[in-house]
Amino acid sequence: MRIGLMTSGGDCQGLNAALRGVAKTLLTLVPDVELYGIPDGYRGLIEGIWHKMGPMEFSGILRQGGTILGASRQPFKKMRETNGEGTDKLSMMLENYRSGCFDALVVLGGNGTHKTAHLLSQNAVNVVTLPKTIDNDVYGTDITFGFDSAVDKATSVIDAIHTTAASHGRVFVIELMGHKVGWITLCAGIAGGADVILIPEIPYDIDRVLEVIDKRNRNGKYFSIVAIAEGALTKEEAATPNNGRKTGVSTAGSRLAGILSEKLDQDVRAVVPGHFQRGGEPTPADRLLCSRFGAKAGELISKGIFGYMTALRGTEITAVPLHEVAGKLRSIPSDSEMLHQAELLDISMGV
Ligand code: F6P
Repeated sequence: MRIGLMTSGGDCQGLNAALRGVAKTLLTLVPDVELYGIPDGYRGLIEGIWHKMGPMEFSGILRQGGTILGASRQPFKKMRETNGEGTDKLSMMLENYRSGCFDALVVLGGNGTHKTAHLLSQNAVNVVTLPKTIDNDVYGTDITFGFDSAVDKATSVIDAIHTTAASHGRVFVIELMGHKVGWITLCAGIAGGADVILIPEIPYDIDRVLEVIDKRNRNGKYFSIVAIAEGALTKEEAATPNNGRKTGVSTAGSRLAGILSEKLDQDVRAVVPGHFQRGGEPTPADRLLCSRFGAKAGELISKGIFGYMTALRGTEITAVPLHEVAGKLRSIPSDSEMLHQAELLDISMGV
């Protein structure tokens, strides 16, 4: 059995742990298995590049950050665009899958990756996927791998900023990743004790943020921490159609910090930890999740079950059909228990 492995989209912590989990399981369950690493996600398959991998290459990588296979973004919307010779990327991938005599592909990726994986699956490619992203926005699973590690990193930034904010009596705006959703910001914000948490799912009111800071100052807490997701918008920005929004090249955090420093008689600083949140070793919780997802993916392949994504539902690892996952975004629901708990903890969501 010839299995191609690839890590697609932006990287995150835990990719190597997940690859290791898949490989170990397949080597255990399928005696004649041959594993092939396809470099840089779908790019490797488009260009027809792969290399055979032995057990040693999956050894010692459980804690290693990044991905031993490399990663790249290959947008789904470009899969049908033709090149000078009239061939599109999908056709190139299908041709290379056939010429490489693969029996199945294991694809580790996020939302865009799942749309392409579903497309491949609809074109007779045997695919099993694992949900990867720090953003935690893949539909069909309670959690994606990489998320816990990113929350860990983001929380450590908030923790460190707390001490310097308190020393100087400053307001800090900490902008966290998450693309169009606020999972990292909500979880790290609560774990790090932020005073205000602003997320894309809840457009915010700057006056409410100012009120919180003012109240803290009046109560003798002369510093404030605002955790803002990179996709967060004010109510006015959210009400403006996309092309009319004048956000330019500024970021959510810099825009807010600019307004706060104009309105407050207090130092305001903006911090953007950026890709730091995606780097370094996976947390033990992520290593566990990756290993469990890897084992499940290997098991599915050994049973000839394809067209599924491994998923965590409650405490169980399960499998969800790709057609239920592809093209959907998992945002924080408005009735989320965690939002209610943030409110009980006197954290303002800016409304
Ligand atoms: O999807 C993961 C993520 O880190 C997002 O949180 C962020 O918006 C984006 O990727 C950054 O992308 P890039 O690595 O291409 O700059």
